[in-house]
Amino acid sequence: MSTLIVTDHHVAPAPTKAKVVQPAWVRTMHWINAVAMILMIMSGWQIYNASPLFGFSFSRSITLGGWLGGALLWHFAAMWLLMINGLAYLITGFATGRFRRKLFPITPGGVLTDLKAALTFKLAHDDLTTYNYVQRLLYAGIIAVGVVIVLSGLSIWKPVQLQYLTALFGGYDVARYVHFVCMSLICLFLIVHVALALLVPKSLRAMIIGR
Ligand code: HEM
Repeated sequence: MSTLIVTDHHVAPAPTKAKVVQPAWVRTMHWINAVAMILMIMSGWQIYNASPLFGFSFSRSITLGGWLGGALLWHFAAMWLLMINGLAYLITGFATGRFRRKLFPITPGGVLTDLKAALTFKLAHDDLTTYNYVQRLLYAGIIAVGVVIVLSGLSIWKPVQLQYLTALFGGYDVARYVHFVCMSLICLFLIVHVALALLVPKSLRAMIIGR
């Protein structure tokens, strides 16, 4: 008697795992950075109010710390978070080749083409694993601004101990303006960045759960 061996040729293929778009380290560091940046900006506005550079101050309702002393405590506490997390992100970004792979090259032609497409809502968002040229420019740019805001901050925090750094910025007073301009650029970036994340929710999802 022969035995019938039934084989099922119609087994559904194992579900392919959705591609990891944002690895865990990027997500963790991105969100720690977002919290640290917001704490730095809000406490920074309160510090600014104690000695404004321009003819305006920030409404107390959007500042952190209550008064100069409180704001400085917040600013220096969040500073460690921002610096350690930022340094770890920079080192990992370079060491893993992520920056080279995802943020470069950036060509003027590529930026112009993608910017035009973005403004006419013709930019494709199907492939989240590659950044378009506008994203590359904005991300590389804001990372550079992040480095400059930390360095200019250090030079107004310790202008005696770090006098060469302060001198590099053209002195204490100029470093304060540089610090303020960087803050403004980060706020502008944040408005555009958050708006785009909400417009393309699957990019936000990928930055939260990875896929
Ligand atoms: C709380 C508000 C924020 C939200 C909702 C947000 C959301 C996102 C999302 C969804 C992505 C992935 C988008 C994509 O696929 O292009 C992303 C990437 C990125 N964001 Fe944010 N973000 C926030 C705050 C910030 C802040 C404060 C900074 C820096 C100042 C920042 C810098 C970046 C950078 C550099 C990337 C690219 C990261 C990489 O690929 O290594 N974000 N963000």
